[in-house]
Amino acid sequence: MGTGERPSGLILGIESSCDETAAAVVRAGGEVLANVVASQIKLHANYGGVVPELASREHLRNIVPVVRAAMQQARLDFADLDAIAVTEGPGLAGALLVGITYAKALALGTGKPLVAVNHLEGHIHAVLLEARARHEQLETPLLALVVSGGHTHLYLAQLAADVWRYRNVGRTVDDAAGEAFDKVAKLLGLGYPGGPWLDTLADRGNPLAVEFRFQQIKARRGHVEDDSPPAQHFDFSFSGIKTAVLRYIQTHGMGPAIETRRQALGEALKENPAMKPNDAADLLPWLFDASALDLIASFQYAVVGNLMRQTFAAAEAFGARGIVVSGGVAANSELRRRFAEEARRRRLHVAFPTLAMSTDNAAMIAAAAWPKFAAGEFAGEALAAAPQLRLG
Ligand code: KG4
Ligand code: ZN
Repeated sequence: MGTGERPSGLILGIESSCDETAAAVVRAGGEVLANVVASQIKLHANYGGVVPELASREHLRNIVPVVRAAMQQARLDFADLDAIAVTEGPGLAGALLVGITYAKALALGTGKPLVAVNHLEGHIHAVLLEARARHEQLETPLLALVVSGGHTHLYLAQLAADVWRYRNVGRTVDDAAGEAFDKVAKLLGLGYPGGPWLDTLADRGNPLAVEFRFQQIKARRGHVEDDSPPAQHFDFSFSGIKTAVLRYIQTHGMGPAIETRRQALGEALKENPAMKPNDAADLLPWLFDASALDLIASFQYAVVGNLMRQTFAAAEAFGARGIVVSGGVAANSELRRRFAEEARRRRLHVAFPTLAMSTDNAAMIAAAAWPKFAAGEFAGEALAAAPQLRLG
């Protein structure tokens, strides 16, 4: 950029923290010019979960074509960009390393500044980006629920002088909500990832058939030398409900039906890997007995209810002006419906990303990088993968 030349705010975002290799070009955190995602879901589905070594190898294979595709979609050359943004963490070490190494090399080769982005902040900006594109004003502080296969976090997000600040006010003490969806789907002999399967099938069961309870999580303790009362936290726990589902399956003799379902669905998915849960339920109705559908509906009802209670309680406790929900589980249709109803009742604004922006993508990384770019917050050559990176 020559002196006096104003940046147009064109940022190339790169994301490789888990099982999606993604690149996107976003202008000034609000206009998506390109958004390309190469998903590895099919590869990992064979193993019922993400295999880190396979993920890194796939990222290596995909990173160059994915970035090239994003630049072509945006009709831009690298010289047109103002900055390159990349996910620093949290995520799988080897997977993050592929994106970071590539982004660093590209920044060095093109002379563009590099911006490091926290993946969790990215998820929040997926919603902010789309709200900005709709010219929707979101007042802060916002209460953000980031809920995916790896995370279940509540953040109080505050915008002051064009800089975003986050405070973590809730987190899961064990499994993430998406992980619970995936594990319960596996227990019931369904496909991977489990969320979309349970979401679809829950509509066909009775959500009040089985009652699941959530244990109260003890308040987090502050520092010993700190006399102030412990700050309020709204934590989650999802490993108990997974065990309760397993116990229910065992005590209700559901094992043989599950085994039949696992085998028949496995065969059907091998023949037609693109088969959607609804097609499966229509084509093979005998595989989805009422007791399984009721269990699915009850599980989802309980998890969504728990996410809702904690989120709205935190919003009230911290005086949030609105709520944003993002991450893979934000795609859940019951979650969207019940959050919207409750928000209406409380006269709070709630915003969700579109389905494509709920799951991992790089547009959210480029959007989160924009205020950092504007503030001159650049990453140095020492930028390294931070698998355990926290936000707030
Ligand atoms: O954000 P994401 O793509 O990747 C992570 O960072 O984890 O989230 C993936 C998670 C998976 O656990 C998947 O089962 C869940 O999101 N998920 C859903 C739905 N769609 C995806 N969970 C519930 N209902 C859905 N419709
Ligand atoms: Zn994610």
